[in-house]
Amino acid sequence: MSGKMRILTSVAVIAIVAAAAGVWIIRGPGPLDFAGGTKVALADYRAGKPTGVPAKLDKASLVERGEYLAKAADCMVCHTGPGEKEYSGGLGFKLPFGTLYSTNITPDKDTGIGNYSDQDFLNAVQHGKRRDGARLYPAMPYTSYTFMTDEDVLAVKAYLFSLPAVRAKAPENTLSFPFNQRWAMIFWSAVFNPDTRFAPDTSKSPEWNRGAYLVEALAHCGECHTPRNPGFALDNRKKFAGAITAGWRAFNISSDKPTGLGNWRDEDLISYLSLGHAPGHGAASGPMGEAVDHSLSQLAPEDIKSIVAYLRSVPPQPSPDLPATTAPVAPASHKDGVTADARGKMLFAGACASCHGWSGESPVSPMATLTGSWAVNDPAATNVAQIVISGTKRHTPDGALSMPAFGHAYTDDEIAAVANYVTARLGAKGSKLTAKDVAGLREQTAE
Ligand code: HEC
Ligand code: HEC
Ligand code: HEC
Repeated sequence: MSGKMRILTSVAVIAIVAAAAGVWIIRGPGPLDFAGGTKVALADYRAGKPTGVPAKLDKASLVERGEYLAKAADCMVCHTGPGEKEYSGGLGFKLPFGTLYSTNITPDKDTGIGNYSDQDFLNAVQHGKRRDGARLYPAMPYTSYTFMTDEDVLAVKAYLFSLPAVRAKAPENTLSFPFNQRWAMIFWSAVFNPDTRFAPDTSKSPEWNRGAYLVEALAHCGECHTPRNPGFALDNRKKFAGAITAGWRAFNISSDKPTGLGNWRDEDLISYLSLGHAPGHGAASGPMGEAVDHSLSQLAPEDIKSIVAYLRSVPPQPSPDLPATTAPVAPASHKDGVTADARGKMLFAGACASCHGWSGESPVSPMATLTGSWAVNDPAATNVAQIVISGTKRHTPDGALSMPAFGHAYTDDEIAAVANYVTARLGAKGSKLTAKDVAGLREQTAE
């Protein structure tokens, strides 16, 4: 080798090593790397069956199995625009650089996925590749679904193809340059899509492995609860540490004791995930309320138990901005509502106290008890403002109440005032939301 060639070769080697290191640093660990045990191919795993449907559906038809899996993967919520037919697309995802719309995944041949072959469907769901070869944006969580088995993905397809075809074309995306360059997603996907199927961990129990499959491959909890890195991919170094999603705060669900799930009892977690409410921890609202209503509440009890077993094993991550302990009952010093703005108190008296009570303990339904929840203890008051803006569509299981939306009735100023009053009176530390913050939150909400 000539001297010049040697230099060129070493420069090339250094460049490749640097690029690989860069990719490794940016990508970080995969969602299951924290467990550290020995992974085996699914076909070689004999201890249990982590994939597919629960035992009671073993003999069910392909379409019924697909329906269960589609619910566990929550395809419907994202693929249904407000007031539109299920799975017909058109829900807008408001990103900092424009709006991206979900598409119609009913079997309509012109506007839906009626022409998708099995392979086309696998390409879309596991690899983020559309039938025409274009790349999907990662708002479609294919980096999670990539862990699904082919069998399970195709069961979901069978279910979708059993539904009525709906003619509906999604609105045009309004992404700005350079984010409107779909082809660039080839590089994103090469770095950030693990592109691998679920491999059970033999050092863990069969229940844990089922939980891992449900949480990582199907329910994609990390898509909302794990912070993102500068490349907009999940940063699993901070797995489940909490993040903002569609303008709502998805709280810490790592096993951290003060701010995560470390202090939750199993029965409380089961209740929160399957009913959307846990005594002393408040209600699941916003995107979590939807995940509960359309997905988690439909799962078999043993699947919820597996999810809980898996969640327990996720290493603790701190949330330094949250008060270390939440007081389940408002401190006595807060009784009058520590707020400089008397409007907050007036609004609460007129519009909220009848359902939520002056103490935050609802006189009407335990599901509307506010004390103890992170929503009222989060000094940013993000979710308090959001629920006042949008309310919930669901009723408490006793049918007694549902949280009305005040977004149209109240100005940003009024929403800020009532949110500040609620956190000051019922939480550990009052918030200082401004009208501008509320306007910002409205802008991020998906519609
Ligand atoms: C978090 C929201 C979200 C969830 C959950 C979700 N999707 Fe998507 N999906 C999207 C968005 C947004 C797009 C459009 C992306 C784009 O245009 O690049 C999309 C696109 C698709 C496409 C491409 C269709 C086409 O030709 O345009 C298919 C197929 C698809 N999703 C299937 C599914 C299935 C099956 C599930 C459940 C297993 C699912 N999606 C769950 C958001 C979601
Ligand atoms: C679409 C986004 C999204 C997905 C997917 C999602 N969550 Fe959530 N989650 C949220 C939001 C937002 C909140 C806060 C809700 C509130 O304050 O009412 C939340 C709250 C929670 C809480 C309560 C935390 C606390 O301390 O109050 C738990 C537990 C939880 N989620 C578990 C899960 C699990 C387990 C999964 C997957 C099976 C999951 N979530 C999937 C958005 C999501
Ligand atoms: C008609 C009864 C009713 C009224 C009036 C009402 N709420 Fe609610 N609110 C509820 C119910 C029911 C829930 C539980 C929501 C659920 O199950 O998703 C709730 C939940 C909440 C939450 C909890 C969110 C969480 O993530 O834990 C907050 C905060 C809240 N309401 C604040 C307010 C404020 C502030 C007002 C007045 C502007 C108000 N509510 C008026 C019934 C009501």
